[in-house]
Formats: sequence, structure tokens, C-alpha cells
Amino acid sequence: MYRIRSFEEYQAQYRRSVAEPEAFWGDVAASYLWKKPWHQVLEWNFREPDVRWFTGGSLNITENCLDRHLETRGDQTALIWEPNEPGDQPEFISYRELHRRVCRYANVLKQQGVGKGDRVCIYMPMIPDLAVAVLACARIGAIHSVVFAGFSAQSLADRINDAGAKAVLCSDGLCRGNKEIPVKAVVDEALEHCSTVQYVIMSRRTYWPVAMKAGRDILLDEALNTVGDDCPAEAMDSEDLLFILYTSGSTGKPKGVVHTCGGYMVYAGYTFQNVFQYEDGDVFFCTADIGWITGHSYIVYGPLLNGATSVMFEGIPTHPDPGRFWQIIDKYRVNQFYTAPTAIRSLMTFGDEHVLSYNLHSLKLLGTVGEPINEEAWHWYHTHVGKGRCPVVDTWWQTETGGILLSGLGGLSPMKPAHAGLPLPGVQPVLLSPEGTELTEPEAEGLLCMKAPWPSIIRSTYGDHERCRQTYFSAFPGYYFTGDGAKRDADGMYRIIGRVDDVINVSGHRLGTAEIENAINQHPSVAESAVVGFPHPIKGQGIYAYVITRGIIENEEDIKSGIIECINSAIGKIARPDKIQLVSGLPKTRSGKIMRRILRKIAEGETDNLGDTSTLLDPAVVDALIAGRL
Ligand code: WTA
Repeated sequence: MYRIRSFEEYQAQYRRSVAEPEAFWGDVAASYLWKKPWHQVLEWNFREPDVRWFTGGSLNITENCLDRHLETRGDQTALIWEPNEPGDQPEFISYRELHRRVCRYANVLKQQGVGKGDRVCIYMPMIPDLAVAVLACARIGAIHSVVFAGFSAQSLADRINDAGAKAVLCSDGLCRGNKEIPVKAVVDEALEHCSTVQYVIMSRRTYWPVAMKAGRDILLDEALNTVGDDCPAEAMDSEDLLFILYTSGSTGKPKGVVHTCGGYMVYAGYTFQNVFQYEDGDVFFCTADIGWITGHSYIVYGPLLNGATSVMFEGIPTHPDPGRFWQIIDKYRVNQFYTAPTAIRSLMTFGDEHVLSYNLHSLKLLGTVGEPINEEAWHWYHTHVGKGRCPVVDTWWQTETGGILLSGLGGLSPMKPAHAGLPLPGVQPVLLSPEGTELTEPEAEGLLCMKAPWPSIIRSTYGDHERCRQTYFSAFPGYYFTGDGAKRDADGMYRIIGRVDDVINVSGHRLGTAEIENAINQHPSVAESAVVGFPHPIKGQGIYAYVITRGIIENEEDIKSGIIECINSAIGKIARPDKIQLVSGLPKTRSGKIMRRILRKIAEGETDNLGDTSTLLDPAVVDALIAGRL
């Protein structure tokens, strides 16, 4: 009933979702399995903010992802796991088998005393146990916090501490492409700075020798031998926490975005089905890592809620060669393929022959996510991967939104290169002027906000509700502020321009400039730093760091590599700057504020057009920056 099959149906659902949101979402939610029905669909205000969906209802998301399908599709493959090396054995995990593994893993957690409301940090490569661990937490009502396994020990420790995690679930090591990461050793290092963690449960992946701490560290395989297959699903209130996922913001410290059980489930399932126009029997492939929201919603929860078959890939697009994605598509006859613009741009640089040697006949739909897609990449994707016959959905959303908000629906909606398109049912976007006035003309450019809640809107930032209010609900009272700027065309289609805050989007990963600056400033020879983004042909945005050093500098290269070391250890390799310019001063106003606008222009190479510099304390600084530009 809630599967949209035509553009007219989309329009009708959209109208109803705005006119009577409660009736609309109540009907959508009724297609799921609830242990107890809700008494109220929605209560909300954006002041505190306080948003509750399906109050009084009780459910377990894993029953909807797994148990519900056992009778009808128990033997159908739920997950196809493709390892890093193409020659290694893939795994085909049926719904029945996934259910069994989730229950057993959940029983291991229970055996260690992990239960409802406990926070569990998951730091794992893209192996089946990662998906199993996520679902095992949800099964028993423990709140998962997945940390991407490329983050450093320090970042991991910060996230464990912020959440007060009781257990860490990890692997021994990981291989991605040619890179190897000693995952367990990183966990050990992080745990030197964490006091809340009682247990570490480790899966075997690489079989590297690792140190096991008695009384704390548990080998998953051994623990599994001691538990049974039966694990009843914990009854969760709709608004109980399902997970925390950390993301960068404009201030230094990443924040734990909180999602709850009922609304997240309803929206993840609904958007998966309609955006990707998934049909029974299709094979869906999302290339994200489960460490990011895209992996949560569209590798784990969305597909499983719909009884789909989806591919989980351990490796990277260029290993062992740049045809790897296309080879996987042909191998498993993938029907819907979902990736990031940065991957497309990177693969384009290797030449068309890598994609042209695969037939890709099975593809019906292509999707992108994570950053604006430029027209050249869009056309390449549409022509060479989609062979001109697959619609492209450019899906705009955020960790905080839980699911896709702006996007075309499969082949149903009008499609315009580089435009995310129209809002999904239940989503009410507006563009605001910097003063907070709604721009009501159809064609407009402004700050993208939402004026009503959808079921998977962020509920809080973990442990600090005020921060949630400040970040998203205070700039424009009465609205959720996305932090993005956007344009709307005469047909109501949205085109995302990019972040308007101090967040940069590097290869689809969000990084706060303040976070990178804090890491740089840890270097003993650094007095001050300022980080900005600049356009990068593959990554979307690159990282440009201006650094003021102190003392006598004998070797600039040593300082730069020391700075990179600081960033690797504070955040991880994903935050490595593309350019580090050592400078003697930064452009500051008389009140001491760094004028980032000028730094961005210089980094972009727009040095003739710096705008008004008269308020600068020392305008000569600017000439020096331009002269030393990299
Ligand atoms: C950007 C990823 C343009 C945007 C799901 C947003 C996009 C941030 C798109 C969220 C898109 C995401 N077009 N920009 N289709 N999708 N973004 O939290 O700036 O990692 O605010 O969530 O990515 O990144 P996050």
C-alpha cells in the first residue's frame, strides 16, 4: 500500500503527508510488526526540541528485519558478503542464518551482562559480524555506537567515553585494498583512556596474533560455543534509543547523533523501498561503510526491513583494479547500485575501459549520496554505468535525518543532473534568507531548513541535549537547520550547494575544521592554525591548512610530516590535509576573529577577488599568504 508506483501516486502521498501527517505516517507504520500499538503518532515542538513518534508503541526493529521474514523468505539470501580479495570466498547469508547469528551474538552479549540501555561501541571492518553485531545490540535493546574503523585510537576513545560504552565489539585486524589496520591493537590503545568498558568481544578476520587481556577480552568464536540459538527480542518503546552515531560539527568535538527505535525503523524502511524502487528478488548494492549513516540505513536496516538481498563489500573500488565495483555488479547481477560521487570521480580518472569491459545488464537504478555530484560525473555515471537506461537518484540527507529527505524516486520522478530533486512524502523543506525569512518564490537560493519533523529526525545529541538545540534548532526558531545551502528551480527541484558552516566534506566524509585545527595545534612547534576547504577534482573538497609555527624552523618538511602525524593520531588518515602552508600570520579582524572567507578565497586561488579587507588588523598578512600559496 505504501509502495509508490507512479509520479501521480507520489504527488498524492506527498499532499496527504503534509495535510494529515499523523494519519499518513500511522498508515505507513501499520505495515510493520509492533508488540504494542502506539496511542499517539506524533507530538512535537522544535523549541526544546522535543519530537516523539508513535508514542506508547513498542517494537523491536530486529523482529521487523528478521523474524518477520522467516516464514516467507527464510532461505532467501539477506546479505551477500564480498571480501576484499576477489578470489576469496564470498558468503551468502540467508534470513534464517542471519537471524540465528544475531540471536547467538545477542546471547553472548547478554551473558556478559550487557542489556537494555547499555551503550556498546562497535569498531569493525566490513565483515558479516559487523552487521550481526549491530543487530544483536538492537535485539537486546543495547544502544549501538558504530565507529568507522579508519578512526584513530584517540577518536575511538573519545567516542567510547562520550557514550560511556560498556563493551567494545571489534575484530583482530582488517585489510582494505592493500592497507592493513591492526584493529584490536587500536582498541587496546584507546582503552588505556577509557574507564567504562568492561568487555571486548573480538571476531577473527585476519588471524593476526593479538594480545588478549584476561578478564576483559573475549574471543567471539569461543563465546558462541557456550550459547543457544534462542534470543527473544526485547520490547522497546518507540522512543527508546536505537543507536548513537558520531558526526563532526562546527565545534571541535564530534557529537553523538541520537536515533530512536520506532521512527527510525518506519522511515528507513519506507525510503529504501520507494527511493530505490526495490522489487522482490532484486539485489541491492550500497558501497558505503556501516561506520557511516548510509551503511546503517541502507546496508543494514532499510534493506532488511524490506526483506531485500543486499551486498556488503569489504574492499575499495580500486583494488585490485578500478573495475572492482563493476565486476561485483556483474557477478551478483546487482539491480540497484548506490555509491558516492567521489568514488565515481575517482574511477573516471582511470579511463572508461574499466567499466566498458563489464556488461552491467542487470542494473535498473543508480544512486548517489554524500556530497553534491557535478554534472560531468553525473553524465559519466548515467552513460557508462547506467548505459543511458538507468535512472539516477541523487539522494540528499544527513546523519541527523536518519534517512533520505530529498531525492527522485526510482524512474518515477523527473531527473535533472546535479539536482537532488523533490522532497519525499513527509518532508517539508524551506529556503531561508540569512535573516530567517522564508523565500516563497519558486526559484530561490538560501539556507536549507525543514519546517516539520519526519519520523527519523535527530532526537538529541547524546548526553548534551542543549547542544542539539543550539546546533540545529536555534539559528532559525521553529525550523530544523541543515547547515547546507541550496537552490530551488521553478519546478521545485532542489540543488544542494554545500555546507554553509565550518564543516567540510572530503570524499563524502564530514569533517569539522575546528577538529582538524585542534589536532594540528597539538604539534609542539605550532602556534596557531586555520583550516578551510577548497574545491578538489576527486574528493569534492580538499583540506587546506594554514599554520603559524613558533621557534626556529630548520626543516619545513619535518614540521609538515609531524603535523600529519598529529592529525593521524587525533582523528585518522581521512583528515589528512592536502596542503599545509606555513605562514607568519593569519588575517584577523581587530577583535581577533580569523576571516575565513579570505582564507577560503586564497585556497581556491581567487586572489584577485578578496572582497573587503579593510577591517583587517594587518592587511599586509594577506599579501604574504598569497605569495606563499601552494
Ligand atoms: C552532504 C550523509 C549534496 C550535505 C548521508 C549534508 C549531500 C552532508 C548529498 C551530510 C547530496 C549528503 N548532494 N550534498 N546528495 N548527500 N550531502 O551526515 O552537505 O555524512 O549536510 O550524511 O553531506 O553528511 P552525512
